[in-house]
Amino acid sequence: MSELLQLHPRYERPRIPTAEELILRFSDKAITELEELKTHYPDLKSCILPGLWIAQREYGGFLDGGAIAEVAHRLHRSYAEVEGVATFYSMYNTAHKPGKHKIELCTCLSCHVCGAYRIRDYVKQKLGVGHGETTADGLFTIEEVECLDACDRAPVIQVGDTYHGPVDEAYVDRLLDELRNQSESTVVKMADEIVKVHLRGKS
Ligand code: FES
Repeated sequence: MSELLQLHPRYERPRIPTAEELILRFSDKAITELEELKTHYPDLKSCILPGLWIAQREYGGFLDGGAIAEVAHRLHRSYAEVEGVATFYSMYNTAHKPGKHKIELCTCLSCHVCGAYRIRDYVKQKLGVGHGETTADGLFTIEEVECLDACDRAPVIQVGDTYHGPVDEAYVDRLLDELRNQSESTVVKMADEIVKVHLRGKS
């Protein structure tokens, strides 16, 4: 059975930092990128999405209250507006801080009929964590997700910006071993790749 509708028991959004608590953590590179992206759009509101991707990279893959506040501050928007955008789109990590690698398991129709629940349960059993949870070593978070738009490769797993499919138990074993030996966070890498796409996007 799908676990998508199960809310994480500890899910709650962070408290809004006060003006005195606001710490600006964007790197020089991030500030330059944001200034460039501001020129791509007719107004600063339109820059919230790419600004959040920069923040997701700069804050290690998680948009906590400080990250939301920094984007709001740099784009002269309200905290509530930026928070509303960030929590609307599931690719922004707002529910919990993910591990170094987020394993997204599609259990939608095509993947379901091709054994996605069996694969999901195998990953859960191997890692000892459930939907929305992170392993104790901080390496892996697993999340059950809706259709990843790669149904021809069902059952599909997404890790960072890479799709894997069709996967079976042996594929999962190899994938987890590869990820354990990878120095770079696939969560942070994906955010960086999406920022690069936005920077290329000016017509
Ligand atoms: S149903 Fe899994 S990718 Fe479409």
